[in-house]
Amino acid sequence: MNVAVASDHGGFPLKARVIEDLRKSGHQVTDLGTHSADAVDYPDYARAVAEAVLAGRADRAVLLCGSGAGACVAANKFRGIRAATCHDVFSAHQSVEDDDVNVLCLGARVIGPELAVDLVRTYLNARFSGAERHCRRLGKIAAFEAEFGK
Ligand code: RB5
Repeated sequence: MNVAVASDHGGFPLKARVIEDLRKSGHQVTDLGTHSADAVDYPDYARAVAEAVLAGRADRAVLLCGSGAGACVAANKFRGIRAATCHDVFSAHQSVEDDDVNVLCLGARVIGPELAVDLVRTYLNARFSGAERHCRRLGKIAAFEAEFGK
């Protein structure tokens, strides 16, 4: 899978470990920064992964900040992006199976590197079920974007 990965400075300590494991697992990884621990603004990195997914350069993305919250809020402002912060394995797969999440957000100040790797593996192995009720609910979210996303 083509996977875009980005972080702000809060997520930076986790990014290298996540990328290392993705590459070991055979994924094609695009590292969209940040490339140091210097303070940056998480919306810029949310934008980078959102654009990569929406343009088809990435199938899915992993986005890291300190809490997993701010980056998730920012990513969800892009029409067609469904981002979720998942710090447990159940949510990491169910968010894809039911909600077709295309950006997994993680908080490097909340979880450790090995849980992060587990969550990313679980997330990437999950597939959207395509069940009618989930398509209907996602359709309602898409309608919100069309109605209010101007
Ligand atoms: C940066 O200090 C921090 O606010 C950011 O990484 C993230 O946790 C925001 O939600």
